[in-house]
Amino acid sequence: MTAAEYKAMVDTALEGYFKGDNMPQKGLMDSMRYSLLAGGKRIRPMLVLEFCRISGGDIKAALPVACGIEMLHTYSLIHDDLPCMDNDDLRRGRPTNHVVYGECTATLAGDALQAEAFGTILRSDLPADRKAACAEILADAVGFDGMCGGQYLDMLGEGKELTEQELTDINSRKTGALLTAACQMGVAAAGGSELMMAAAGHYGSAIGMAFQIRDDMLDVLSTEEQLGKPIGSDKEEHKNTYMALLGREGCEATVDKLTDFAKNILSEAFTDTEFLCGLADSMAKRYN
Ligand code: IPE
Ligand code: IPE
Ligand code: MG
Ligand code: MG
Ligand code: MG
Repeated sequence: MTAAEYKAMVDTALEGYFKGDNMPQKGLMDSMRYSLLAGGKRIRPMLVLEFCRISGGDIKAALPVACGIEMLHTYSLIHDDLPCMDNDDLRRGRPTNHVVYGECTATLAGDALQAEAFGTILRSDLPADRKAACAEILADAVGFDGMCGGQYLDMLGEGKELTEQELTDINSRKTGALLTAACQMGVAAAGGSELMMAAAGHYGSAIGMAFQIRDDMLDVLSTEEQLGKPIGSDKEEHKNTYMALLGREGCEATVDKLTDFAKNILSEAFTDTEFLCGLADSMAKRYN
C-alpha cells in the first residue's frame, strides 16, 4: 500500500467512531470527533499497519490498533495545546479544541480519547494475547516514564538551560515513546519475533528523535498555513528546543544521521523495507 492508501484506510475507519446523535453527551463526542477527524498525517497508525504487514500479520485485523494509537495521539495534542500547557490556538489547520469547545470539554475529550484508545484495541478481533501485548506497549509508552513523563519534564524545563542529554531524554519520552510504540504494536499485532520487535524499537526511537528535531525546526522555519499550527510557539513558551541548541545545520545533520540509522537497522529483521525507508525519508524532509 502507499502512504495515501494507508491514510485513507485509517481516515475511513476513524470516521466510524463516536457517533451518537441521540445521546445527551453528544457535545463531548462532537469535540472528540472534531480533533480526531481534523486531518493529521496519520504517521503512527501507518507505522502500526506497515510493521504488522512486514511481520507477516493481517492489516485489516490490526486496523483497530492503528485507530487506537491515533486516538491516543489526538488526546495528547488536545491536552498539549491547553492554556495550562503550550497555550496554542491552532492545530491541524483549525482552531484548537479548547478554543471551540471550552477548556472543560477539551480536557474531557482528551480523557475520553485516551480511554477509548485502549478500549478500541481491546475490543478488536485480534487474538487475546496479541491485543493485550499492544495495549501494554501503549500503556508503557504514555505513562509516567513515557509521554506524560516527557511532557512533565518539558514543562519543568521551560525557561531553563538544558544540556543536549537532558533534551534528548525529554524528547525520547514526549514524542519518541509513542512513535516507537506504534512500530512495536504493529509487530505485536502480527505476533512477530523478538528480533522484529527489537528492530522495530530501534527504528522507532531513531525516527522519533528525528521527528521531534524536525518539529522544533518547523516551529521556526515553516509557515502557519503549511504547518497547520502556530509558528514561534516554542519561543513564546520558553521551551528548550534542538533549534536553539544545535542550530539549523546541526539539526539537519542530526536528522540525516538518525534517518540513515533507522533505515539500516530494519534489515536486521526484515526484507521488505521499502515503504518504511521512504517514510523515514519523507518525515525527515517534511514541511508539515
Ligand atoms: C505532532 O505530531 C506532535 C509531536 C509529537 C511533535 P504530528 O506532527 O504527527 O501531528 P499530526 O498528527 O500530523 O497532526
Ligand atoms: C508535543 O511536543 C509532544 C506531545 C506529546 C503532544 P510539541 O509541543 O512540540 O508538539 P506541537 O509542536 O505542539 O505539535
Ligand atoms: Mg508541548
Ligand atoms: Mg505543543
Ligand atoms: Mg512543537
